[in-house]
Amino acid sequence: MAGGNAKVRVIQTYRRLYRAGASPSLPVLGGRAMARSLGYPEDVLRAVDDALWNRFFPCGNPLPYLDVRPGQRILNLGSGVGLDAFFVRQTLSSAATVVNLDIAYEALAAGLRAFGNQPGEAGGVHWVQADGEILPFTEKCFHWVVLNGVFNVFPEKDRIVRELARVAAPCGRLVVADLVRNGPLPDECRNEPEGWVWCLNGSETCEEIARLMEGAGFLDVRFHEWICQAEPFWRCVFTARKSPA
Ligand SMILES: C[S@@+](CC[C@H](N)C(=O)[O-])C[C@H]1O[C@@H](n2cnc3c(N)ncnc32)[C@H](O)[C@@H]1O
Repeated sequence: MAGGNAKVRVIQTYRRLYRAGASPSLPVLGGRAMARSLGYPEDVLRAVDDALWNRFFPCGNPLPYLDVRPGQRILNLGSGVGLDAFFVRQTLSSAATVVNLDIAYEALAAGLRAFGNQPGEAGGVHWVQADGEILPFTEKCFHWVVLNGVFNVFPEKDRIVRELARVAAPCGRLVVADLVRNGPLPDECRNEPEGWVWCLNGSETCEEIARLMEGAGFLDVRFHEWICQAEPFWRCVFTARKSPA
């Protein structure tokens, strides 16, 4: 499936999922059970209602890799309903500004209804509908950029990585939870258009991810966790730091 078609397929599927909520027949785990298995804190798990859990499609848990300070700005790219942003504000810093950005307005509308803008002593939560490949922000404006189950839905990795590098502040941090491959993409995935939706077909090897990141100006690309999903796919969180210049 060519890049443009894969992208359209991904967007249409997620918009449908956000309208209807996940059903048990989905080929991926999600929701509260998945969040618990990924180690999201129990008290925040209890604070969220079922309609939102039905619309949570993470690949991992970025929270342990975030060290958010008051006054910092975080971009939650491909945020869905914004659960990771909610957890950041609850557990790490209620004085940070979080921008939830997604192309599916159905997700943003559900998140905004549930969480609002959470104005606090500083910062707050903002909701932006846009394409991750054309971010509506000036350069160098985010201290943290988080993608949870989103990196792999982009068929053109050069484009998305360039855009991440553009909006990351000097020394800004990137935290990406997604599937990483330790071998070639199986043929059965290649012929399965839904493979783009479930982060399989857009997965890359560590070597390729490091090459892309370093080429765009990120340093210290590190891979954490490695939970086998089904060979050759591994759940992984990778982190990187934008160069100081
Ligand atoms: C696997 S879901 C992850 C959602 C969220 N991070 C979570 O953990 O629930 C992938 C998300 O990427 C969004 N997405 C897909 N293509 C996008 C694009 N071109 N620009 C922005 N978001 C996109 C989808 O709408 C969906 O919300």
